[in-house]
Amino acid sequence: MRALQITEHGGIDQLRMVDLPSRPLASGEVRIKVKAAALNFADLLVLKGTYQSIPPLPFIPGMEAAGKVIEVSDDADGVYVGDDVAAFINAGGYAEELVTHCSNIWQSPKGASASEAAAYPVAYGTSELALFDRAKLQEGETLMVHGAAGGVGLAAVQLGKAMGATVIATAGGSEKCALAKENGADHVIDYKNESIKKRVQKLVGKVDVVYDPVGGDTFNQSLRVINSLGRILLVGFASGDVPRIPANHLLVKNIDIQGYYWGDYIKYAPKKVTKSFERLNKLYQANKIKPHVSKTFPLEKTAEALEFLKSRQATGKVIITMD
Ligand SMILES: NC(=O)c1ccc[n+]([C@@H]2O[C@H](COP(=O)([O-])OP(=O)(O)OC[C@H]3O[C@@H](n4cnc5c(N)ncnc54)[C@H](OP(=O)(O)O)[C@@H]3O)[C@@H](O)[C@H]2O)c1
Repeated sequence: MRALQITEHGGIDQLRMVDLPSRPLASGEVRIKVKAAALNFADLLVLKGTYQSIPPLPFIPGMEAAGKVIEVSDDADGVYVGDDVAAFINAGGYAEELVTHCSNIWQSPKGASASEAAAYPVAYGTSELALFDRAKLQEGETLMVHGAAGGVGLAAVQLGKAMGATVIATAGGSEKCALAKENGADHVIDYKNESIKKRVQKLVGKVDVVYDPVGGDTFNQSLRVINSLGRILLVGFASGDVPRIPANHLLVKNIDIQGYYWGDYIKYAPKKVTKSFERLNKLYQANKIKPHVSKTFPLEKTAEALEFLKSRQATGKVIITMD
C-alpha cells in the first residue's frame, strides 16, 4: 500500500511516499481500505514533534480517515467486512490502508460520502461533547465561537444552532464570516477588523458560553464579555499564544474556564463518546449538521494540502483522497 511516512520530526517537507507491505491483524483489529482522510491543525504539531501525543518514529501521520472494512479479526466486536466506517487514530490516516483496533472506529453516518465521513469524527466529536457535556450549553443561551470557519469552529457553530443557542461567530475576514453565517451563525464578528468586546456589548451585552480553539487575544476579549455563571471552553491555541488566566476574574464574575480535550474522553469516558456519536448521527440524518469540505487533494499532494491549512486559507475541513 502507498503511504506517507516521516522518519524524523521537522515539518511538512519530512513527508515521504513509501510502499509498505500489509501487516497481519492482531486481536480486535480491523483492516480498512481508506477512501478519504481529513487534515487537522494538530497534524502540523505532530510533524514538528510538539503535539501532546506523538507516535514513535517512523510513522504515518493522519488522525482521521474513512473507508470500507475489508478484513476483521475474530474478536473485533460489532464490525463486519463491508461496513463503511470512520476512524479516529493516533497515526496512520495518510495511507491507502489502515489497520486499527475496532474501538477506534464508528459507523459512517448513513448517506455520507467518504469525504464527509472523514471530515466528521474530530470536528463534530470534539465540538458536541464540549458543548453538551463540558459546558452544558442550554437552549436559549448565547454561545460565542472563535475561529468559527475552521474545522472544529464551524462544527461548533452548526451544533450550537442545533442545540437552540443564539450563536455569535468570530473569524478573520469577510469570506470566513460569510461562511459562518451560511452555517447558521446569528451574528458574525470579523476579528481582523473589529473589537470582539465592543461588538458583543452592542449585539447582546454578554455571552453565556465561549468555544475557543484560538487562544491569545480572543481569550482575553472573551473574559470581558462573559456573563455571570458563564463557561469558557479552552479547546485549542491555534494562534500559538497560550493565555494566562487571571484567577480573580473567575471569582468576582462566578465563571468557569473549562479545559477540554476530546482525546481524553475517548480514553476515559468511551461510553460518553458513543452516546455523542448517536446524537450526532441523529442530527446528521435530520440535516441539522453537515461537514463543510473546502478543498480535496490526492494523497501525493498531501504536503500541498497541509500548506493550505497552515496558511489559514482552509475553511471547514481539508480532505485527502486515495483513488
Ligand atoms: N481540545 C480538543 O480536543 C481539540 C480537538 C480538535 C482540535 N483542537 C484544537 O483546536 C484548534 C483548531 O483546530 P482545527 O483542526 O479546527 O484547525 P483549523 O481548521 O486550522 O482552524 C483553526 C482556526 O484558527 C484560526 N487561527 C487564529 N490564529 C491562527 C494562526 N496563527 N494560525 C492558524 N489558525 C489561526 C483560523 O481562523 P481565522 O483565520 O478566522 O482566525 C482557523 O480557521 C487547534 O489548536 C487544535 O489543536 C482541540
